Amino acid sequence: MIENSMSMKRSFSLFQFFIFSLFALAQTISITTDHTQLVLRVNDGGRLYQTYLGERLSEQTDLSQLNMPQAGLSSSCIKGLEAYPVMGTEDYYEPTLEIHHADGNPTSVLKYVEHSQQGNETAIVLRDELYPVEVTLYYKVFPEEDIIQQWTEIKQDEKGKVYLGRYASSILYFEAPNYFLTEFASDWAKEMQMQSQELQFGKKVVDSRLGTRANLMAQPSFELGLGEPVCENKGTVLMGTLGWMGNFRFTFEVDNQHVLRVVSGINHDAGTYLLRKGEAFRTADFYFTLSTNGVGEGSRRFQHWMMNHQLHKAKDDRMTLLNNWENTYFDFNEEKLVALFGEARDLGVDLFLLDDGWFGNKYPRKNDHAGLGDWEVTHDKLPNGIPYLVKKAKENGVSFGIWIEPEMVNPKSELAEKHPDWIIQLPSRETYYFRNQMVLDLCNPQVQDFVFGIVDGLMQENPDIKFMKWDCNSPITNIYSLYLKENQGNLYVDYVRGLYKVLDRVQAKYPDLYMMMCSGGGGRSDVKGLSYFTEFWCSDNTDPIERLFIQWGYSQFMPAKAMCAHVTEWNRRASIKFRVDVAFQGKLGFDIGLKGLSDDDRQYCREAIREYKRLKNVVWSPNLYRLVSPYEGQHCVVQRVNDSKTHSILFAYDIHPRYGERLLNTRLQGLDADAKYRVKEICLMSGRQSWLSCNDKVYTGDFLMKVGVKVTSGNDLVSHIIEITREE
Ligand code: GLA
Repeated sequence: MIENSMSMKRSFSLFQFFIFSLFALAQTISITTDHTQLVLRVNDGGRLYQTYLGERLSEQTDLSQLNMPQAGLSSSCIKGLEAYPVMGTEDYYEPTLEIHHADGNPTSVLKYVEHSQQGNETAIVLRDELYPVEVTLYYKVFPEEDIIQQWTEIKQDEKGKVYLGRYASSILYFEAPNYFLTEFASDWAKEMQMQSQELQFGKKVVDSRLGTRANLMAQPSFELGLGEPVCENKGTVLMGTLGWMGNFRFTFEVDNQHVLRVVSGINHDAGTYLLRKGEAFRTADFYFTLSTNGVGEGSRRFQHWMMNHQLHKAKDDRMTLLNNWENTYFDFNEEKLVALFGEARDLGVDLFLLDDGWFGNKYPRKNDHAGLGDWEVTHDKLPNGIPYLVKKAKENGVSFGIWIEPEMVNPKSELAEKHPDWIIQLPSRETYYFRNQMVLDLCNPQVQDFVFGIVDGLMQENPDIKFMKWDCNSPITNIYSLYLKENQGNLYVDYVRGLYKVLDRVQAKYPDLYMMMCSGGGGRSDVKGLSYFTEFWCSDNTDPIERLFIQWGYSQFMPAKAMCAHVTEWNRRASIKFRVDVAFQGKLGFDIGLKGLSDDDRQYCREAIREYKRLKNVVWSPNLYRLVSPYEGQHCVVQRVNDSKTHSILFAYDIHPRYGERLLNTRLQGLDADAKYRVKEICLMSGRQSWLSCNDKVYTGDFLMKVGVKVTSGNDLVSHIIEITREE
């Protein structure tokens, strides 16, 4: 956020800094959640250091025992651990801030000035003694969820031009015998590929420079095993994620003392930012949790935090839906759509979602080569417009939702003809197109108005639209903004801020609108995005086997309620039951021609939707236990438990078991050991009985958690949904 800063009007003198330094002596700042503590201390040179990050200490008096690094202005060799190290000072590793002053000096030395702790927020002000540069480190704690949010604000008050070369949100330091990183590599239809490695001396960078479709190749989250590889239920793990709908960067650096430094923030690599006099640069938000019981505990914390504090409309319901994309692609008309509304009603879903292909007249959107940007209904195709469709959907007892891709334009469009200056494109160079389209320049307020106007126009005309799928199929290509002129280094950051301005307006004006964040699959999937969107499209890949892995990956941080999972034609070797049972774990939808299904399959879908609606609050519970990993064999078992431990659901899948494989019991988690629970398989194909030996039996929670039950088999592509209910 850029804002004017009154505080920068102060003048700076060496005398003031002498006073600050005296005041700063022995300042210790403690930031705590229920189980984690971060301690910072000011040394006698007035510099701020991290002295502790770990399990919460019981005695606050112990804080004074924490060792200070041997730092000071006169020291020539410093171990590091500075809370916000600056490029050009005596720490030789990856810095958090690089600032080029108007006179060309490329350094700042930041010294403690003051701090405040109000409620759950701590703000620590640091200042340079030679230049009017002020940096405020912010820490917000979510005590019960054990999450700490960090961001930084950088202000400058110089007369000439000041550039930021780096502007990280935070740095954290760790000392452990060894470090193991799990990252989430991605690609189209291959989101959340979990990969682990031990970190050795030097740097490992995970970043993105795609701009809009920022997470296409890497997701903005990581897991870090401290002292041992990341495990589900044991070990100390740092889990971090960046809230930023654009380029991100994590740097993991093991230094010569074997200290691990984790620097998180916007990817500075793609732009040196011009920071104007009196303006404040607010970095992205970095969120982390430090679990001592593996990533299982960390995931539950993140999911609780998402549900309690971050996800848009987290407490509200979600709608099951029928989407027409993979059924019709661009080939539909009014008659076909109205028939599909009937199918949606027959299926029992809440909403029909009309996908791409409904707009454009001079250049109708018949395929992905034309029409993007011209948000007028195609008269030939839909002569009675969107209002007619909304009305017809309503008559069929389903709500109506619609697809838009408002940040993009096809060169073959009226928009591109009218406003070439609104498009991000390199003057006098050959243009590179991604999916035949280009990105509109959201740095430009006129473009922000236009993009907001697309949602606003649809909603003004059709106040009954309940849902929008907001797509984003291209990264930023041909990076150049006519609007920014000589300040091209600001483009990636100002684009995201422009997008936030639009989304803020949408949210303020249409608080009841449900919106899916989509980016050709999971190309957009960060936690800031989900403060605007009610859900996200995890992947275009809906092959249920692949989805077991993709959903396993996203569940590390994301709640089930936000993870759109649709039943489609991908992988027809898998039965409709298997496909539905995989999608049942997330926010259930269908994108399939129902006419092509057998009566039994259609009946199964109806039954599953009924059961899903009955059980959705358990399915969406943040109390997730990942019991059997698809990464470790040919099965996957996942369990959800409600807060009061009265109700649980077990999802069990056999993928392609080995011949004669030894099948082990699956031990449940999160139940009340003293309570009794009935185990019952639900969602059976019509006429089928459960063959699970535990079906319809009553067990103690203790037994289910210590001995467990057999829910996997030696058969290919078999799935079970099992309801576990506490007996009164
Ligand atoms: C993207 C989405 C799809 C679909 C198409 C429409 O690829 O991921 O679900 O909406 O766009 O063009």
